[in-house]
Amino acid sequence: MRVDAGLAAEQFSNLKNVGEAATPNFTGRSASFACGAVARVSLHIDDAQRIDDAKFKVAGCTVLVAALSVLTEQVKNKTTAEAAVLAEDLETIESGLGPEAADRGDCVLLASEALLEAIRAYSDSARDQWDGDDALICTCFGVSERTIENEIQTKHLNSIASVTRACNAGAGCRSCYPLIEEILEEVNGK
Ligand code: FES
Repeated sequence: MRVDAGLAAEQFSNLKNVGEAATPNFTGRSASFACGAVARVSLHIDDAQRIDDAKFKVAGCTVLVAALSVLTEQVKNKTTAEAAVLAEDLETIESGLGPEAADRGDCVLLASEALLEAIRAYSDSARDQWDGDDALICTCFGVSERTIENEIQTKHLNSIASVTRACNAGAGCRSCYPLIEEILEEVNGK
């Protein structure tokens, strides 16, 4: 394992959340062919879509371990949507790890990808199990197919980014992107 003295001293003495989240849980993995690091995040999520347990396992450098420790701690008690927004803010994660992580964006990205994968696994599962009247498209923000169709029609939207701006669908883990794309094509007749 690559060791960075400053991080090792500060983050390793406070290392949190190593292990496996309470079951049933949702897991995400990431890996780097360049350095061989592997990360795994598991999340236990309550009925209100809030993360009540987050844990990680890792084989990798100090910065990756520290990033996973910090990220899993930060997402506890957050909704999956809030956690996804946090995971995508790589600059803030990196700066929170101190100067030793300044040029180690790839390590921070690996931690972020593992967390986002776990959130996507939850979103896909929740979407599949949804039994409401309107099909649920964006689990993170609870946006239905009908809402997205209405937004596209009334505001003449033609991109995922414009749909996200209009109704928040896609602003979290992005697992709904392919579905939003399909609705765009259907409504706009492409
Ligand atoms: S399901 Fe996560 S952003 Fe839509």
